[in-house]
Amino acid sequence: MKVGIIGSGGREHALCEALSKSRKISKIYCFPGNAGTEKIAENTLINIDDFDALKKFVISEKIELIIVGPEKPLVDGIVNFFENINIPIFGPNKFASQLEGSKIFTKKICEQYQIPTANFGIFESIEKAKLFINKSKFPLVVKADGLAAGKGVYICENKENAFIAIEEIFNGKFGVSKNILIEEFLKGEEMSYFVVSDGKSIKKFQTAQDHKRVGEGDTGKNTGGMGAYSPSQLINEELDKKILDKIIYPTLSALKDMNCEYKGFLYAGLMITKNEPYLIEYNVRMGDPECQTILPKLKSDLLDIILACTENKLDEIQIDWHDINSLCIVLCSKGYPDKYKKDILINNLKEINLDQNQKIYHAGTKVINGSILSSGGRVLNFVNLSKTFKEARDCNIKAIEKINWSNGFYRKDIGFKVIE
Ligand code: AMP
Ligand code: GLY
Repeated sequence: MKVGIIGSGGREHALCEALSKSRKISKIYCFPGNAGTEKIAENTLINIDDFDALKKFVISEKIELIIVGPEKPLVDGIVNFFENINIPIFGPNKFASQLEGSKIFTKKICEQYQIPTANFGIFESIEKAKLFINKSKFPLVVKADGLAAGKGVYICENKENAFIAIEEIFNGKFGVSKNILIEEFLKGEEMSYFVVSDGKSIKKFQTAQDHKRVGEGDTGKNTGGMGAYSPSQLINEELDKKILDKIIYPTLSALKDMNCEYKGFLYAGLMITKNEPYLIEYNVRMGDPECQTILPKLKSDLLDIILACTENKLDEIQIDWHDINSLCIVLCSKGYPDKYKKDILINNLKEINLDQNQKIYHAGTKVINGSILSSGGRVLNFVNLSKTFKEARDCNIKAIEKINWSNGFYRKDIGFKVIE
């Protein structure tokens, strides 16, 4: 069968590679993909916000299944669009995608279904939000309601910071904001928890921990993710049960009560405090770079899992994993997450011997006249599977040093909490 993948990051290259191993797939198209997917799929330059253009291509090429990587098309309703014309597509519909698209939607579910999360207030004007801030203790967290590419969250240490956050959000920094969310600051350690769902049942899809801050020791600005490892060392049987019983199942029941079935990957961003889980946020997709650490551990055929979801028979299959540790380091363009140069040649990729345990997933890369150039802030994901996280990290660092890309930088301390 012919399959289409929407997106262009490391997550989509990892999805593409996992799917390319399926014997049932004859061809993969990536919309638009990157220099990595180009080797195993046909990259197609279509604006992924233009659903009509995608539809035309999908019909003309007889693509039988679409897999959506990033959140924006999901929140914009791409699943409803293709389901309406009977083209199978994997991901949650527009209603369910509000779990990521509106933090307030999720918070209201938490409130109604007693899902553990940070205490919060919703404010509809600058004045009311500031009045609340004047009476609050710090730190606290100010959040824009809608999608903000990971940037609409302000951890505020004092009143002045909180006032700036409130003004920036209401003045439209992340699009029109009718409401703002102010939350209690949660202490603990973060964990990414994944499940896959067909609307009737779910299966666990591993845990991971990512490093969102740009600097070593988890310092500096927030980024899309500088590295990750899987599994999280926080997980244990008791915690796992609490996450499912207190967070995942109540959320899916809440959606059911609103006549909505959740299909696709669901990613819970959790704070773990004394073996108790608190929901920070939902994402309606795989994490990036968590996906790059998880998919190489998958023993089962990814296509079989996705088809079981689109055909509502997830309970009939079993998902098998390699029992191994996985760690990813992201090589970024100097300057990221602020200004950085693009179109810088990446040499030496051929120098690295990739085997089953070493992967390089592309993110911001493109091919021009046979050469690979950078085209984004996060450029390459180095993933290694090893017995220990330390071995995995050492192997990745060796590979990055071999590439010796003069425009690049990376964090050498990914996994420090479980290594040092
Ligand atoms: P989000 O976009 O909601 O994932 O938030 C980005 C990051 O901000 C999270 O990964 C956390 O590190 C942090 N964060 C968000 N909400 C809270 C909270 N209530 N308490 C502590 N940290 C938070
Ligand atoms: N790793 C964070 C995210 O995918 O949102």
